[in-house]
Amino acid sequence: MKEESTSIGKVQSVDTGNVTVLISDENILNSVQVNQIILIRSTKTGEKIIGLISKILRKAISDKIEGEYEPEQIIENVIRVNLVGTLIKKVGVEKNIFKRTLNTVPSIDADCFLLQGKELSEFMTTISSNTENPLRVGTYTISEESQANLDGNKFFQRHATIVGGTGSGKSWTVATILEKSTALKSVNGVLFDLHGEYKPLEKLDNTQLLKIAGPSDDGRTPNTIFLPYWLLSYEEIESLLLDRSDTNAPNQSRKLFDSIISAKKAVLENLGKDEVLNNFTVESPIPYNLNDVLEDIEKEDTKMVPGARGDKQGPLFGKLTRFIQRLRSKQTDKRLNFLFSSDSELQNYEYFSQLMKNLLDFGNNKGIKIIDFSEVPSDILPLITGLIGRLIFSVQQWMEEDKRHPVAVFCDEAHLYIPSNIKGGYEEKGLQSFERIAKEGRKYGISLVVISQRPADVNKTVLSQCGNFVAMRLANPEDQNVIKRLFPDSLGGFADLLPILDVGEALIVGDASLLPSRVLIDKPKIQPKSATVDFWDEWDTNKKSTGITDAVEALRKQQK
Ligand SMILES: Nc1ncnc2c1ncn2[C@@H]1O[C@H](COP(=O)(O)OP(=O)(O)OP(=O)(O)O)[C@@H](O)[C@H]1O
Ligand SMILES: [Mg+2]
Repeated sequence: MKEESTSIGKVQSVDTGNVTVLISDENILNSVQVNQIILIRSTKTGEKIIGLISKILRKAISDKIEGEYEPEQIIENVIRVNLVGTLIKKVGVEKNIFKRTLNTVPSIDADCFLLQGKELSEFMTTISSNTENPLRVGTYTISEESQANLDGNKFFQRHATIVGGTGSGKSWTVATILEKSTALKSVNGVLFDLHGEYKPLEKLDNTQLLKIAGPSDDGRTPNTIFLPYWLLSYEEIESLLLDRSDTNAPNQSRKLFDSIISAKKAVLENLGKDEVLNNFTVESPIPYNLNDVLEDIEKEDTKMVPGARGDKQGPLFGKLTRFIQRLRSKQTDKRLNFLFSSDSELQNYEYFSQLMKNLLDFGNNKGIKIIDFSEVPSDILPLITGLIGRLIFSVQQWMEEDKRHPVAVFCDEAHLYIPSNIKGGYEEKGLQSFERIAKEGRKYGISLVVISQRPADVNKTVLSQCGNFVAMRLANPEDQNVIKRLFPDSLGGFADLLPILDVGEALIVGDASLLPSRVLIDKPKIQPKSATVDFWDEWDTNKKSTGITDAVEALRKQQK
């Protein structure tokens, strides 16, 4: 890289991580832009310090010269530069290596150069070719001919988040990342698709479409997922069935607990699972028959006990009636078919492992599992996403280390089920699963990719565990602030670009990207069904309405 070509000035002041550069020529000041790359000569031979322009200023300094009345105005053209790393000419046999550390800080009067044209693309290629098997996401905005590559290991190791306002290009970015990952033979990922918009991606290699059963999905097919109630932890089922405001709630909870324990015990005894029998708890995912539990509770609700003057009402007489009604109404709620379906196959002891194979299997043209949640009632969504998150975590945790295969969980529309403000029981239970994955998932090879249009509404603990940010256009100041706070301090004004990014453009910051960069994300070959509607053009066509009756019927049937 020749440096003499584009000298722009000299270092004027230095503080940790930042320098100001005095620009020699006013024309240069007019041509530089925030986020361009600056190369600064280092005191160490063979090394150059790399920085990003964060501010461009023209400062007027009043200088009172003795004996004169009018102070003379001195104009100073300066730019502020964030130091981001070091370019080393040669390390062993490798040439032009970029490191994200600073071995030295620039000295005052060190020469500064602007990277442009061929030099820039050479440099960006250096940055990108740092890993052997990169995850290509797009091209750099400042140098369109250079590919923007991420380190795929680091991207998933330290969790990632993809944020941006509605229509900024998150789903397309996800599709691009999935497309690149499905080229890997043993890719393993689960995508929570809340609107069924990723269905077209079924065509990708190593990708499978799954759907949480809707009200009219009766029989089981390989692609429909049922999550029978017995998979719920005790707290989860309690949050689903118990009305906390009922004065008898503690009695109901206690009775439910006892009944579930004895129902599970009976099943284990019946199957001769002695080892499990010794260690099982109310939480153990063991199938039990809810009707038996219900019968047991009903018995207690109507139980008469011998008293001094003949039979009298038992201790729980009538105290469980409302609970029984609630349970029955849930059981018959068609929308909850995926939980309470009476299909006897779902009572099989082996069903749990079949389900987990569906979620975690890879190879054989499986790998990315797109789970369509579009028919799950929105009020219990957090409970169900949380359940799946918890099951994945637990199975990974209990898997022998040498058999464990890393898996990534992509959570689209995460603000809906990983919320910052918890409203009730379901949300809390669901959130715990994701907090756990965010905090401990790395140890068990589980990565979280949090995708949301409202980062301000996403849980802070989960967001703060993410080491990689793909931030797309964000217009809302509240959301911008959340992201600004998560970006490293040294980046200064980088986040100010958030509101002015183009559709499909992202700021990528974090472990996986050597340099904080502005990237134009590649269009995915197969696009999610999230296309933006052209209202004006659509209204300008000659169309007749035909879909309303069918839509009304679909709403009744709860099925498209
Ligand atoms: N990389 C890209 N290149 C070109 N156009 C894009 C790109 N990404 C997105 N778009 C355009 O923006 C539209 C919206 O993108 P997308 O559905 O990904 O937004 P989103 O951020 O997921 O929105 P929402 O939060 O509402 O789900 C797309 O239909 C497409 O027209
Ligand atoms: Mg989207």
